[in-house]
Amino acid sequence: MCGIVGYIGNKNCVPILLEGLKRLEYRGYDSAGIGIINETDCKVVKTKGKVADLEKLLYNENIYANLGIGHTRWATHGEPSIENAHPHMNNDKTLFIIHNGIIENYASLKKGLLNEGYKFVSETDTEVLAHLIDHYLKLKNNLFQAVRYALNEVEGTYGIAVIYKNEPDKIVVARKGSPLVIGVGKNENFVASDVNALITYTSQVVYLEDGEIAEVYKDHFHAKNIHDEEIIKEIHEVDLSVDEITKGGYPHYMLKEIMEQPESIYNSMRGRLVYEDGISKLGGLQGYEERIANSDRIIISACGTSWHAGLVGEYMLEQYAGIPVEVEYASEFRYRKPVINSNDTIIFISQSGETADTLASLREAKKKGALCLGICNVVGSSIARESDAGVYIHAGPEIGVASTKAFTSQLVVLSLITLLLARRKSLNLLEGQEIIKEMQSLPSKVERILKQNKYIKEIADKYADCRNFLYLGRGYHFPVALEGALKLKEISYIHAEGYPAAEMKHGPIALIDENMPVVFLAIKDSVYEKVLSNIQEVKARKGRILAIVNEEDNHIDKMVDHVIRVPKTIDMLQPILSVIPLQLLAYHIAVKKGLNVDQPRNLAKSVTVE
Ligand code: AGP
Repeated sequence: MCGIVGYIGNKNCVPILLEGLKRLEYRGYDSAGIGIINETDCKVVKTKGKVADLEKLLYNENIYANLGIGHTRWATHGEPSIENAHPHMNNDKTLFIIHNGIIENYASLKKGLLNEGYKFVSETDTEVLAHLIDHYLKLKNNLFQAVRYALNEVEGTYGIAVIYKNEPDKIVVARKGSPLVIGVGKNENFVASDVNALITYTSQVVYLEDGEIAEVYKDHFHAKNIHDEEIIKEIHEVDLSVDEITKGGYPHYMLKEIMEQPESIYNSMRGRLVYEDGISKLGGLQGYEERIANSDRIIISACGTSWHAGLVGEYMLEQYAGIPVEVEYASEFRYRKPVINSNDTIIFISQSGETADTLASLREAKKKGALCLGICNVVGSSIARESDAGVYIHAGPEIGVASTKAFTSQLVVLSLITLLLARRKSLNLLEGQEIIKEMQSLPSKVERILKQNKYIKEIADKYADCRNFLYLGRGYHFPVALEGALKLKEISYIHAEGYPAAEMKHGPIALIDENMPVVFLAIKDSVYEKVLSNIQEVKARKGRILAIVNEEDNHIDKMVDHVIRVPKTIDMLQPILSVIPLQLLAYHIAVKKGLNVDQPRNLAKSVTVE
């Protein structure tokens, strides 16, 4: 999950590459580097550490070039080091390559190249590509063809950009499994892993598909497939402003994105609610409503936070639309032999739309004839482009690695799909209108929760030294407990587990003592009384309890140590409100611990390798 960027034009590429890398740093941030070629020089500068460290290095170098590529790394093969940082080079240092993905057969390719006398300086799979392209350059004497021949030997995934001293008028890029876009400028062109890196310069982008290779010159580009056949590429206009991808005065992207939720939740339902008919309207599913409603079952495939959203979707769809739902970890679903038939509908949930396991499970499902729907945030992403139909969540760019506003917007979209299907089943007009009224009240209710930010910080400060946490919830709030635990794990590095509250007696209760804080989702819904008994069980074992409760619930205060209140809404929408205090709790605990909230260790925003 690395970040790739490249520039060819008349400007100095160094500041452009650095800015692009900063915008891509959420994809990987353990080492970085650039490679440039100009009339007199071809040079690589790389460092272990962040783009800011690379910037310091380059400051003293005073480099000027119109052609360059840059990379920020998330290590897969070889630990973070200068040697393993990209760009990688051929032995005579005339060809530079940057790569996002994994070359699975790199060991066997490397063996052949070593026999040919190539010298390796890194432990990476990517360096194999540099030497393999060099091998074909000697045979074909043409960079494009050399890259094409080399890639025909590669097994695995890649988004690559290659520059070569003897052909300084182009960047050759290729894609298989990892995202890659070309940014079309005036007398200059850009390449990148995603549009965030080039949106400052152009809104005209070309999405490379799997198996495509392109030569990008400063004033034009042309693309072929891996079999050397010409392909015509469409230029898309992306509607994204630079403001949307900056911190907007907040200390962290994560806090900005948490605070944006009244607006992002509103944007996810804007123009999609038809009150007079008590139903939702989803343009991206037009023509498929009947087929989805009559599905034998709905399967949801996703990873991480998106998988948690899928679990909430399961409760919604079964309760309101009466359609059997199964929620699958995409990484298991793609390799298991799932029984899928053409009357199944499979929903692939992914904020980035590029998560390798979810994308692969989509391709598997398509082969089996199921209707494949995408719920994505990133416009033009692979899952969005490859699914039969789908819904964008319109949460706006999510840069913080810990997903927050995308989760609540995924739940809004799952509610809209539920309403759409339920109105085709037993839900009547008044019930549909009731749900719409509740949905429209969400943004103001979220604002009320966000006003408690300071209070939640004070509570977080009291729990920041804890080494373990247990999150417990029932029904719709079991997935919220999982999501709360995940948020805390990924940004504060505190071990935390989410559990169905009733499961506690079957083991986890052994963990309970005065050092084990337990976060309860104790919302006044159909299982409230059951949760109260679980709270008693924890209290009886001296557990410290923080409870998320409804505003009017004064009964629970005396049973627990701390409470955070959220407004009441209908069961299916309540997770959208209940999760927000958990996002803020995790955020403030991580800040209290002085951790890098936006770039937590070992993580990356979009997991494009399996
Ligand atoms: C969530 O905070 C994490 N960043 C991670 O679990 C994420 O949800 C997962 O990688 C799935 O990403 P996607 O929604 O982009 O597919």
